[in-house]
Amino acid sequence: MDDPQSIANLKDRMAAEQVREGPPPGFPALPPLAPGRYTSQEFYDLEKKHLWRKTWLYGAHGSQLPEPGNYVLLDIPDAPIFLMRGKDGQVRAFYNVCSHRGAPLVRDPEGRESLLRCTYHQWTYNTEGKLISVMDERDFPQPFDKDCLGLAEVRCETWGPWIFINEDPDAEPLRDWLGMIADEFEQFDIDTMRPAAIRTYELEANHGCLPRGLSHQGHPPGNRGGLPRPHRCRDGPVAQRPYAHDLPNEDDARGSA
Ligand code: FES
Repeated sequence: MDDPQSIANLKDRMAAEQVREGPPPGFPALPPLAPGRYTSQEFYDLEKKHLWRKTWLYGAHGSQLPEPGNYVLLDIPDAPIFLMRGKDGQVRAFYNVCSHRGAPLVRDPEGRESLLRCTYHQWTYNTEGKLISVMDERDFPQPFDKDCLGLAEVRCETWGPWIFINEDPDAEPLRDWLGMIADEFEQFDIDTMRPAAIRTYELEANHGCLPRGLSHQGHPPGNRGGLPRPHRCRDGPVAQRPYAHDLPNEDDARGSA
């Protein structure tokens, strides 16, 4: 981005934005967003099935798994998945489901274990997901092949220090999916980047409300300082009042809906 032509192009685009009095030429006359996208259980279920289970999802930063045995339990609806760095140094993603009767292997949001021992009947896996020990193995029909009963793995790829997962075995490689975002970022020496802070917020809203609101370019001029409190997404206000998230608090949003 530091070449003269790119800088000139950027300045041209900024100048065009300053004088523009309507949508860019050729911009389609889009209809309002349908509120059901944020309120319909059926739409949400379809999203989970056809979108979230087939796309790359951010899992963790590599610095959260510095040593072999470190794990991070992800919080993905209907997809109990954890990341673990194996003794071989590789980070893998597994379903948090024991191959015996389906009990969870890890329960804390993050931690470190040298082995994964299921607390239900003590089946034990190594940090690479391989089943290594079964209580009363002689009681199972023989031959008993532990190699076929390791933890179910989920696709896991990294871009720089960032770890992503994808439940779709046929998904395109992560780097291809990231496309121009990765092209732009790689000028910043991404391997040296570290998270300054990780915060978790619970919102009473559909997952689509906040990202959509915060990606809006109208925030800088009107920002009154700090993150606006989220309002509940209900039929009506979302589609009819796209700037509702600018309201100072939830009560205002409710009262003027
Ligand atoms: S469910 Fe894990 S050992 Fe039985």
